[in-house]
Amino acid sequence: MKTAQAKIIEPVERVRGQITPPGDKSISHRALMFAAIAKGRSKIRHLNIGADALSTVSCLQKLGVNFQLGKFTVDVDSPGFSAWQQPPDGVLHCGNSGTTVRLLSGLLAGRDNMSVSLQGDNSLSQRPMRRIIDPLEKMGADIRSRDGYLPLKIRGAPLKGIFYRLPLPSAQVKSCVLLAGLSAKGKTYVEEKLRSRDHTETLMKMFHIPVFRNKNTISVHTLRRTIPGFQYDVPGDPSSAAYWVAAGALPLKSRLLLRKTSLNPTRISYLKLLKRCGANIDILQNNKSLEPEGDIVVRTSALRNFHIHSKQVPGMIDELPLLALIATQAKGRSVISGAKELRYKESDRIASTAAMLRALGAEVEEFEDGMEITGGIPLKGGKVDAKGDHRIAMAASVAGLLSAAPVHIRGWSCVNISYPNFYDTMERIGRS
Ligand code: S3P
Repeated sequence: MKTAQAKIIEPVERVRGQITPPGDKSISHRALMFAAIAKGRSKIRHLNIGADALSTVSCLQKLGVNFQLGKFTVDVDSPGFSAWQQPPDGVLHCGNSGTTVRLLSGLLAGRDNMSVSLQGDNSLSQRPMRRIIDPLEKMGADIRSRDGYLPLKIRGAPLKGIFYRLPLPSAQVKSCVLLAGLSAKGKTYVEEKLRSRDHTETLMKMFHIPVFRNKNTISVHTLRRTIPGFQYDVPGDPSSAAYWVAAGALPLKSRLLLRKTSLNPTRISYLKLLKRCGANIDILQNNKSLEPEGDIVVRTSALRNFHIHSKQVPGMIDELPLLALIATQAKGRSVISGAKELRYKESDRIASTAAMLRALGAEVEEFEDGMEITGGIPLKGGKVDAKGDHRIAMAASVAGLLSAAPVHIRGWSCVNISYPNFYDTMERIGRS
């Protein structure tokens, strides 16, 4: 079998320029789903056009929703939530996307006359689904699975509202239950001990769906009215911007301006952490909407070590592999703990991050729920495997900018999952 060539990232002296990160992946999934729930025509601008968001598009297409994709926009024509159709072959392919399968399961569990099989690629088929099956079954859902893994066979059933205390912090599980609540009889409550990203709730508010937060508990009512089509601009993805924050903070004489990036407080804990560790970062908020966005300026910084513990993990879950890379260049030893959830991502991100950093000459000790990273050791460069995980490929690419010798990345094309233009941007900021 022919394998694609490794991507070679050469070290640079500095990075400079302006970047508009792609549309936020989490918000794009949700905006697409709400456009499919709405009846009529919607337009979503600055959509994330990575493979994950396209998995959501293709599942919704099979449910009878029409999409016309432009470069970064999509026009959606939907018959409305109550008129979704049974897919002819009953199969919905969710590709690599955990958000697609977990959120759609919530939407489909209460659809009468609907029977679907949700499937995914190799990686998604190894990720735990018991976390959504349990609450959905409590609501009355009819779900069969391969022992808690895909494929999930969901037969639409009448649901009832429940009070669900999340056993683990997860925006996907929270969103699944809240979305199922739209079809449930009575009110649905989700309690989260630690706050996770709240885009499902903010979008519900934007569409005047009665959703309320009381301390740690979110409640939603049955959706009784029709949501009309809408226009929506997706803010830039702070988790994609994070790679450039690292690239701007680490090499000498660098300065990057990241434009129109989401500043949703549930997503920018990594920026706050880096600022506390001495990062030269300015945040300029442009609007005060439910989904705030703004610009971020980052300049070369001298960073100190950090300790990330379980309470901080949900707020920076997707940035942890990159923060581990940053820790290799900070002063002192850094620790990431209480982060076992990383083992259930697109790859086992504790193992894949540690392997990637060690291959480049870093000193990393791996624990069951995290890792300890020795700072201040220059990266040598070398060969790494992305393990099919976009976040590992992108963190390794940033490492290539800082290493003494080039970094060769096998399996780099998985950056398409969330950031198809990633390497064009990297080349541009390294040239200027
Ligand atoms: C996401 C939630 C997080 C995150 C994932 C996207 C979402 O997953 O890691 O990339 O869009 O809700 P968990 O809910 O499993 O923490």
